[in-house]
Amino acid sequence: MDIILTGDRPTGRLHLGHYVGSLKRRVEMQNSGEYDKIFIMIADAQALTDNADNINKVRSNISEVALDYLACGLSPDKATIFIQSQVPELCELSFYYMNLVTVSRLQRNPTVKNEIQLRGFKQSIPVGFFTYPISQAADITAFKANLVPVGEDQLPMIEQTREIVRSFNTLYQNVLVEPNAILPSNSICSRLPGLDGAAKMSKSLGNCIYLADGSNDIKKKVQSMYTDPTHLRVEDPGHTENNPVFVYLDAFCKDEHFAAFLPEYPNLDELKAHYQRGGLGDGKVKKFLNEILQNELRPIREKREVLANDVGAIFEMLKNGSEKAQAVAAQTLDEVKTAMGINYFR
Ligand code: TRP
Repeated sequence: MDIILTGDRPTGRLHLGHYVGSLKRRVEMQNSGEYDKIFIMIADAQALTDNADNINKVRSNISEVALDYLACGLSPDKATIFIQSQVPELCELSFYYMNLVTVSRLQRNPTVKNEIQLRGFKQSIPVGFFTYPISQAADITAFKANLVPVGEDQLPMIEQTREIVRSFNTLYQNVLVEPNAILPSNSICSRLPGLDGAAKMSKSLGNCIYLADGSNDIKKKVQSMYTDPTHLRVEDPGHTENNPVFVYLDAFCKDEHFAAFLPEYPNLDELKAHYQRGGLGDGKVKKFLNEILQNELRPIREKREVLANDVGAIFEMLKNGSEKAQAVAAQTLDEVKTAMGINYFR
C-alpha cells in the first residue's frame, strides 16, 4: 500500500519555485495511478504557529493555494485535498505524541532552529511553533502515509516522525507507519533561485514569479532578472553557472522550445556555449526564457482564472476533502487510543 501525504502552509500564493519543486511532481504522481491514496493538506494550523496575529493572511490564502493546486492539475477525484484545521483528530494525536518527544530533541531540529533564527524569535518562541514537528508527525501518521514528497528542508521533520512512530509502536502496539521522504529528482527542482539571484525564490524576498501572474508581469519580471554581473557588453564572455536565467532554462527548456522560439540554436548546450564565448546578449536569452515561461504558465493561469470565478465551489471541494480526511484520521486515532489503552468505554 503506497499512501502519499504532503502539504503547504497557506502563507502566500504559490510560485514557480513551488511549481518545479513540488507541484509538477505531485501531479505526475497523481496521474501515474501508482499510488493507492494521495492526501494534499493545506497546513493552516501550522501556518498559524507563527502567524497568530495574522489570521487573515492565513485565512485568505487557503483558497489561493487551493486554486493553485487545481490550476496545476491536482484533482479532487484523484487526491484528497483538505484543510488541516478541519481535522481536529490531528490535534489529539499531537497531544499524545508530545509525551514521546523531549524538549532537547526539538531544540536539535535543524529546520526549526533555522526558522527560529530567521524569524528573530530569540527567547520568545511560541510553544506551538516550537512543537510543530510533532504536529507534522500527526499529519503524516494520521493517514498512515509511507511516502512524503517534500523539499530537503523537511527531512528533519520526517526523521522526527520516524522516531515518534518507533517510540509509539514499541511502547504500545504496532499501529503507526514509518514514513519515507520523496525528494525532488534533481538539484534545480529542489531549489529554484529568485529573480534577483538569491538562493531561493521566496515571497518574503519579493523575487518570485507567481502561478497567478499575468503575462505582462511575467515579461517584466523576466526582463528585470539578475544575470551574470561580469557580462557587461554583448561581446563579453558570460557565465551560465549560477546565472538565474540559465538556471531557469535548465529547469524549463526543452529542445522543442528552440524550434518554436529560437531556431538559430538546436539546444541549450549550444546556447550556453555561445553565451560563454561571448557575443550573445542577455536580452535575447531573456526573451527566449519569457516565451518558455509564458507557454508553461498560460494554461495554468487560464484555468486558475476560470476556477477563481467560483470560490464557493473551491470551498465545497475543500469541505468534501476535509470530511474524507477526517474519517481516515478518526480511524487512526481510534487505533491509537486503543493501543494506548485509553479507549475506556469500549
Ligand atoms: N512543513 C511543511 C512546509 O512548511 C508543510 C507541512 C505541514 C507538511 N504538515 C506536513 C509537509 C506534512 C509534509 C507533510 O512546507
